[in-house]
Amino acid sequence: MRKITIAGAFLLLFVVLLFLAAHFLGVEPDRLNYEYAPDMAHTVAYKAQTPNPFFRDGRTEQLPVEGTIPRGYMPLHYGLSEEEARRAGKELHNPFRSDSTANLQRGKWVYQTYCQECHAASGDGMGLVVQRGFPPPPSLLLEHARKMEDGRMFYIITFGFKNMPAYGSLVSREDRWQVINYIRKLQESQP
Ligand code: HEC
Repeated sequence: MRKITIAGAFLLLFVVLLFLAAHFLGVEPDRLNYEYAPDMAHTVAYKAQTPNPFFRDGRTEQLPVEGTIPRGYMPLHYGLSEEEARRAGKELHNPFRSDSTANLQRGKWVYQTYCQECHAASGDGMGLVVQRGFPPPPSLLLEHARKMEDGRMFYIITFGFKNMPAYGSLVSREDRWQVINYIRKLQESQP
């Protein structure tokens, strides 16, 4: 019993000393006061969108050096014109086989994810957004799309075309070719 009392007294003394120390050292509880091992809490790097005296234009965010290409990205050297679309139709060829089930399944997934809302599951162009007022695309089952080269379709998906938005930044190169194979399949299945 006596032992407990002594321990209690020491504890009380300790707590009182802590409070006194805090008071005399001017510790404010709602502010960070003493940092023990801050490690990398305070970065020396400049934050994005802040001024930076080290660059000539005074900005932290710099444009990539001209001519650099992101890793894993292949540039497509085509401009935006009918002529360039025609050139793409002649020069670009589908590297994927259209008779592979795995390829077609991938193409179907791409179509359902990125194209179906406008072009419709059947390809006739009466997708959900079209039913809600988006300008209808021509049916992919018509002669025009059937005769269109894979390369030109690839160009249209990549850069967009009139009312159709560009999908180059959303759909990978491989997936663009796969979806074209799937569109061919749709065309074959609906003569
Ligand atoms: C937001 C709606 C929309 C989406 C999504 C969309 N398209 Fe289109 N697409 C259009 C419209 C509209 C046109 C017609 C463009 C024009 O002539 O104004 C078109 C035209 C086309 C054409 C040319 C057809 C022809 O006969 O001239 C192809 C090929 C095509 N789209 C493929 C695709 C593929 C593949 C996808 C998915 C990766 C896709 N589109 C996604 C709206 C869309």
